[in-house]
Amino acid sequence: MHSCGSRKIIVWILCLIFSLSHSILVWASSPPKHLCRQDQRDALWEFKSEFHLSGMAANEKTQTWRNNSDCCSWDGITCDPKTGNVLDLNLWSSSLNGPLRSSSDSIGNLKYLKDLRLSECNLFGKLPSSLGNLSDLTHLELDGNGFTGELPVSIGNLKQLTKLLIASSKLIELSSLDLSFWDTLRGDVDFSIFLHLKSLTSLDISTLNTRSIFSSTLHMVSPIGSLALASCNISEFPKFLRTQTSLFYLDISQNQIKGQVPEWLWSLPGLEYEIYLLDISSNAFKNPFPLLPKSITFLSASDNQFSGEILKTICQLDSLETLVLSNNNFSGSIPRCFEKFNTKLTVLHLQNNSLSGEFPEESVSVGLISLDVGHNQLSGEFPKSLMNCTGLEFLNVEENKFNDTFPFWLRLLPDLQFLVLRSNEFHGPIYSPEGSMSFPKLRIFDISKNLFSGALPSDYFSGWSEMSSGVYTPDNKQKRFIGIGFSNYLKSVVLANKGLEMKLLGTSFNIYKSIDVSGNRFQGEIPKSIGLLKEMIVLNMSNNAFIGSIPPSLSNLTNLQSLDLSRNRLSGKLPPELGKLTFLAWMNFSYNNLEGPIPQGTQIQSQDSSSFLHNPGLCGAPLPKTCSGGEEATINKDKEEDQVLSWIAAGIAYVPGVFCGFVIGHILTSYRHEWFKKFFHYFS
Ligand SMILES: *[C@@H]1O[C@H](CO)[C@@H](O)[C@H](O)[C@H]1NC(C)=O
Ligand SMILES: *[C@@H]1O[C@H](CO)[C@@H](O)[C@H](O)[C@H]1NC(C)=O
Ligand SMILES: *[C@@H]1O[C@H](CO)[C@@H](O)[C@H](O)[C@H]1NC(C)=O
Ligand SMILES: *[C@@H]1O[C@H](CO)[C@@H](O)[C@H](O)[C@H]1NC(C)=O
Ligand SMILES: *[C@@H]1O[C@H](CO)[C@@H](O)[C@H](O)[C@H]1NC(C)=O
Ligand SMILES: *[C@@H]1O[C@H](CO)[C@@H](O)[C@H](O)[C@H]1NC(C)=O
Ligand SMILES: *[C@@H]1O[C@H](CO)[C@@H](O)[C@H](O)[C@H]1NC(C)=O
Ligand SMILES: *[C@@H]1O[C@H](CO)[C@@H](O)[C@H](O)[C@H]1NC(C)=O
Ligand SMILES: *[C@@H]1O[C@H](CO)[C@@H](O)[C@H](O)[C@H]1NC(C)=O
Ligand SMILES: *[C@@H]1O[C@H](CO)[C@@H](O)[C@H](O)[C@H]1NC(C)=O
Repeated sequence: MHSCGSRKIIVWILCLIFSLSHSILVWASSPPKHLCRQDQRDALWEFKSEFHLSGMAANEKTQTWRNNSDCCSWDGITCDPKTGNVLDLNLWSSSLNGPLRSSSDSIGNLKYLKDLRLSECNLFGKLPSSLGNLSDLTHLELDGNGFTGELPVSIGNLKQLTKLLIASSKLIELSSLDLSFWDTLRGDVDFSIFLHLKSLTSLDISTLNTRSIFSSTLHMVSPIGSLALASCNISEFPKFLRTQTSLFYLDISQNQIKGQVPEWLWSLPGLEYEIYLLDISSNAFKNPFPLLPKSITFLSASDNQFSGEILKTICQLDSLETLVLSNNNFSGSIPRCFEKFNTKLTVLHLQNNSLSGEFPEESVSVGLISLDVGHNQLSGEFPKSLMNCTGLEFLNVEENKFNDTFPFWLRLLPDLQFLVLRSNEFHGPIYSPEGSMSFPKLRIFDISKNLFSGALPSDYFSGWSEMSSGVYTPDNKQKRFIGIGFSNYLKSVVLANKGLEMKLLGTSFNIYKSIDVSGNRFQGEIPKSIGLLKEMIVLNMSNNAFIGSIPPSLSNLTNLQSLDLSRNRLSGKLPPELGKLTFLAWMNFSYNNLEGPIPQGTQIQSQDSSSFLHNPGLCGAPLPKTCSGGEEATINKDKEEDQVLSWIAAGIAYVPGVFCGFVIGHILTSYRHEWFKKFFHYFS
């Protein structure tokens, strides 16, 4: 009874507390709390006050805005009821009478906006780049205003945008419109918008992600100069070009256009002496190869189905600076006429055709910066006249049948960055006592799968500054080369890394530094100076006859990801310091005469045992053969510390690995953006 009564009291007290607290809560939340967030209100208020004449008419939306009231209740505003963020701003047909300002980031601060409608608001001036901060925007209506100038590049950040209205806008002065990489979420795009842009001379809608097939619907009234329609899923040559007379830049690459490049493109009045850039690469064009106008400066026709001999008429194109015919089926020999280009031809890429015969000496233009004739059947001597091309940066002749000694005169090329002689019949030593080989800018040195022989002095790699020092600083020439715009994606090399052959493309060149001398007949010791090349990522010296021990200086190569020393005659112990190379994800020491215990460390221990096989004296994990007690004792001292390091390493090493993969995998889709930006920057 007693206990029952006190229990009742406790229940009553609890009930009282509960109901009191409940009513306090109800009371506290009962007056209508301002939904509007302070920062959103400030931004709106600032926006309003930017327009001094606004609100003159009593019926205007901004006129009704009051600083001290809930901005979510203001005319033209819709908020998210949960968060109070301003989602819609609709001031359609208000007399704002002024420019949209960029400097004060007010519109840009309404960063949750999904819908912005400022049609017919008497706005003028340039569109602010801060519009690009509104990354949730799906709907942007700016028509019926007097905006001038270019659409800001930052509009490209509006990844959710599905509707952009600038149509009846008076963008009569708009001369350049770049909507590349605009993801319309596969919605329809009304191509009639371009009909109103009477001053438009430059249009880039590359990689426009739309359902519409626009080659039949796209029309332009203005005389277009520069037109980029890359990767737009076009299957026939755009007919509206027939009415264009001022075209000087045409990029229709990466589409599915079949058949021939139509002749009318060259017979348009006024066109013949004007077009200087034509990119028809990555389509399904067939012979006949177009007879190009003399004005052409840049021609890329790679990745098509052209065949037969390269026409000599190409030699009459004396403005040509860049010629890219890679990945077709051209046969016969390289025309003996390229010297006519003299110093103008800077890029000559003929990779992956069926070209044969010698490389004609007289076809080497001294202005060459990039030469790629890899994956053909070229034979005979290596063209010595290349020694006069002092600006040469990229030289790739992989997979041919060049039969020559090492081109020692390459040391006369101070800017050489990429040298790939892989898979040819080069022979003899690569070292001569007369002059040291130092390649200050070299970042890729691949002479694998040849018949080179001889020993390398221990200081062989001294003076290769680019591989030993840090950050790459492009000089003016490099900038100019990139400025032309095309060097980045035109470069392509097939290299071995981590046991796989892979294609290196685009900007991945900038992070990749490698030496591959595998598959030759080199003798003598591995030069100790290899330890100087601290930036190196891949080192392959396999399949040679190197002797002596593995230089401990290798442990200085802290960026190394892949090391192959297999199939040599190396002896002695594996340097324990190798266990500390944290990025070294792939290594192979098999088929040597190495001995002693395999060093500890996660990177080494995670290797396949085949990386250590066929070394009679090597013992310890991952090999099944255990070491005798004494040997293991000497290394166990460091083991614990190593393991801690290695765990950290395993985590870190994942990052560059993924990064590399990303760069290489995605470069094809990403280069274009940079490329166009650079191009327009260059010509603006
Ligand atoms: C709103 O008004 C108050 C006074 O009425 C003022 O202190 C405040 O700065 C104003 N806010 C803005 C954003 O103008
Ligand atoms: C908004 O955009 C401008 C220009 O595009 C930029 O400078 C600024 O940092 C951006 N602000 C925010 C908050 O993102
Ligand atoms: C390209 O267009 C065709 C219609 O011509 C369409 O069936 C196909 O899905 C489109 N491809 C892409 C990648 O948009
Ligand atoms: C050579 O071009 C063909 C198509 O013409 C392509 O399938 C192949 O992958 C290319 N090979 C290399 C090494 O680029
Ligand atoms: C390339 O051309 C040769 C004739 O020059 C022909 O035999 C071969 O089949 C062609 N290859 C391809 C892939 O079209
Ligand atoms: C290099 O150029 C000079 C001058 O134009 C010329 O005399 C010489 O023959 C050229 N060398 C080679 C190997 O072509
Ligand atoms: C290279 O050329 C020399 C002579 O010109 C010839 O003896 C040798 O067999 C050739 N090498 C190969 C691998 O064909
Ligand atoms: C090293 O080069 C040889 C060819 O010479 C190749 O078979 C091997 O896979 C390469 N090693 C690595 C780790 O890529
Ligand atoms: C590693 O590099 C440093 C210079 O950074 C050098 O002094 C040292 O001798 C190198 N170690 C080896 C083993 O080569
Ligand atoms: C190491 O190289 C040998 C000989 O070149 C090869 O048989 C083995 O598969 C390679 N191991 C790995 C893990 O690549």
